[in-house]
Amino acid sequence: MKLIVQTPRAAAARVLRRVTGAPSPLDGRVVMITGASSGIGRATALATARRGARVVLVARRADALKEVRAEIEKAGGAADVFPCDLTDGPAVDALVADALEAYGAVDYLVNNAGRSIRRSLDLTYDRFHDFERTMAVNYFGPVRLTMGLLPAMRAQKFGHVVNILTWGVQIKAPKFAPYIASKAALDVFSRIAGREAFFDNVTFTNMRVSTVDTAMTAPTEAYAGRGLSPETVAERVVRALEDRPLTVNTLFADAYEVFNLVAPRLSDLGMAIAHRATKDSAAARGQGG
Ligand SMILES: NC(=O)c1ccc[n+]([C@@H]2O[C@H](COP(=O)([O-])OP(=O)(O)OC[C@H]3O[C@@H](n4cnc5c(N)ncnc54)[C@H](OP(=O)(O)O)[C@@H]3O)[C@@H](O)[C@H]2O)c1
Repeated sequence: MKLIVQTPRAAAARVLRRVTGAPSPLDGRVVMITGASSGIGRATALATARRGARVVLVARRADALKEVRAEIEKAGGAADVFPCDLTDGPAVDALVADALEAYGAVDYLVNNAGRSIRRSLDLTYDRFHDFERTMAVNYFGPVRLTMGLLPAMRAQKFGHVVNILTWGVQIKAPKFAPYIASKAALDVFSRIAGREAFFDNVTFTNMRVSTVDTAMTAPTEAYAGRGLSPETVAERVVRALEDRPLTVNTLFADAYEVFNLVAPRLSDLGMAIAHRATKDSAAARGQGG
């Protein structure tokens, strides 16, 4: 994974911090992380707290969030727990109200909570809820939360939002239509929001992440042990928070995006062959957990 848009200013600031030992730009800032109870979100919460941020932990499982908070506090950091189901609109509105009351404004937001579904369309004809539930948590939840926090960010003339998306938005991989479409919707929303908030110094990073070994990928036998660690990705999220690039992509997905543009039929053929050659997991066929 590499930073595609690394402004010279961000690069210079990073070098200067390294040379002078100056604190991270996250030091003393309020960073809200959704899906902080496990996987990438949990690792990001720990990494962000190590940079001196006050971390606001959001997910449904309050007990798991409290464990993350305890780990952060044990290491000398600061964190608060805000349990919330992001698919519950009024609960998201209440989260926004509580956070604004507690902090005035949230400086950084990591839209990480999400769910993935890997299932062929021919197993999805009678499962419209696969489209609805991916949109609920991967698009409507983060958009509602972002829209709630955006006015205070714009008013204080500072804010940054990092979206944990998937490299699938560039590759457009078969078996992931509901999931990737919901992530692509958030990708586009954020790019436009960044344009509208440009002069208020509120910025967005779309991270198109490759496969990571977490609870999310565990049911897919084909991915077992083949992904990045959540800790590796968390360090990249921290870097995206500090440097505020527009996108964080992988070289492979960038290359495939170009292939999709210059030779779309050939690219479809390649993906169709790959689709035929790979099976749906037992879980996707309804035979596993
Ligand atoms: N793993 C990969 O290969 C991979 C690749 C690219 C992108 N991603 C993205 O990375 C993000 C994190 O996934 P992960 O791999 O770390 O999986 P994970 O360990 O399963 O984490 C998912 C997180 O989302 C939270 N969540 C799920 N539904 C929620 C809801 N309705 N409301 C609030 N929180 C909810 C979960 O917490 P609770 O259950 O406590 O609510 C959990 O903390 C996801 O957006 C995923 O799409 C993952």
